[in-house]
Amino acid sequence: MTRTSPLLFLVCSLAGCSDAKPAGAEGDDSGATALADSGAPSPAFDMPKIWGLESVADLNPADDIVEIELTADLAEVAWTESGLTEVWAYNGQVPGPLIQAKVGDTVRIHFTNALADENTIHWHGLRISDTMDGVPAIQAPVQTGETFTYEFVVPDAGTFWYHPHVRTHVAIERGLQGMFVVHDPANPVVPERAFVIDDVLLRGSAVDPSTMDHMAQMHGRLGNTLLANGQTEMLTATMVPGQPERWRIVNTANARTMWVRPTNARWRVIAVDGTLLPTPFETTRGLLPVGQRLDLEVIAEDGATEVGLQVELPDGSGGWSEYPVYSATVEGDSGDGAWTQWDAAALPEPEAAVQEGTLVLNAFDGTTTIDWTINGDVYGEHTPLEFAGNTPTLLTVRDRSRAEHPFHLHGQFFQILSRDGEVLPEDAGLRDTVLVSGSETLELYTNFDNPGRWMAHCHILEHAELGMMTEVVVSE
Ligand code: C2O
Ligand code: CU
Repeated sequence: MTRTSPLLFLVCSLAGCSDAKPAGAEGDDSGATALADSGAPSPAFDMPKIWGLESVADLNPADDIVEIELTADLAEVAWTESGLTEVWAYNGQVPGPLIQAKVGDTVRIHFTNALADENTIHWHGLRISDTMDGVPAIQAPVQTGETFTYEFVVPDAGTFWYHPHVRTHVAIERGLQGMFVVHDPANPVVPERAFVIDDVLLRGSAVDPSTMDHMAQMHGRLGNTLLANGQTEMLTATMVPGQPERWRIVNTANARTMWVRPTNARWRVIAVDGTLLPTPFETTRGLLPVGQRLDLEVIAEDGATEVGLQVELPDGSGGWSEYPVYSATVEGDSGDGAWTQWDAAALPEPEAAVQEGTLVLNAFDGTTTIDWTINGDVYGEHTPLEFAGNTPTLLTVRDRSRAEHPFHLHGQFFQILSRDGEVLPEDAGLRDTVLVSGSETLELYTNFDNPGRWMAHCHILEHAELGMMTEVVVSE
């Protein structure tokens, strides 16, 4: 059973078709987290095997270098019964292969573009040099048949992801997306699973080629087929009773905000984007806007024979629709059922801001399309925001569009100080992505410790494509 049909019905209710129109119609990694003194040899670290995604081969034997090859090319996948679907894939896979490294490693990626369209790779959430950030404002896109080598040191542990930054709404929809996990060797080792959740819009067996109809301009492109790790079928596995697991989940959809919930399990959120939370939190369902990552710690409920993961979406009438994507049979000798002591470092304490910036998100009737704007301008006509680096900064993000926007800032982490004046437990952590809904005003804190030119944009890819992107320039 594919999950195609139920989502089709949801497109309209979720998108709120009848809603009113929007109002108005790492330079280097020197600023990044300090690494352990490199004087003493660190004990060898075995990259954990993460269930759910195929890992890319590390071609470099050195302990602290991860060297891989990624090729973007056409491929075919079996998503429907009506035939194969042509996709764009990294190394023939959708999602692309899992990249793994440990904090402080040098990662070298030889990227070959075998597609007809020019391309780049952006490393979403990694605080690296802007010259390696994969944005066409800085890097000339890689042309057909060409190779470009990305190289950087990964400064932070966490769950990240990678995708193109040229015609991104088309490229990600067609399949170019993958998870990038950076391990902290000091963390407790528990079994890990990865889930890349996407929704794709299929017409018959083909990815719908019309990329920007009015609905997509308004709400972003909402898919009708839910994919978990590139599968339309239920993912299956086995799970040991009483054994805590770490589930890393990313929403790679073009536009759809999702919620995720393990079933028949005790679970809590232990990490968001690039931070292990000092205080993990429990919630009914984990909010997972586009671009965001959640790491869950999951333990089978006592006596449970099956543990699942489902994506949950508002059904338009106050309830929730459930889309199970994963089912594990619980079997084997029982673990002790205790939560893991993660011993996460304390978050940096925000200091009094000595500089401020404001980003107002809005929309206007453009000449042929909706113009999605930041501070009144579409990308290309924007005035970059300028900040001093390594300086306590208050960023105010104000939504005036009456639509929701997963706001993403490249190259930095930020903390959410308040949401419409309130401090919510689930807003904790160092992040690179945050959902701004409705007409909210968010206060964000960042130290801007990674100098460079950075994109700040809505991760609803059609909104970004139609202008909702600007630049933040951070001086040394
Ligand atoms: Cu995930 Cu500017 O991107
Ligand atoms: Cu948006």
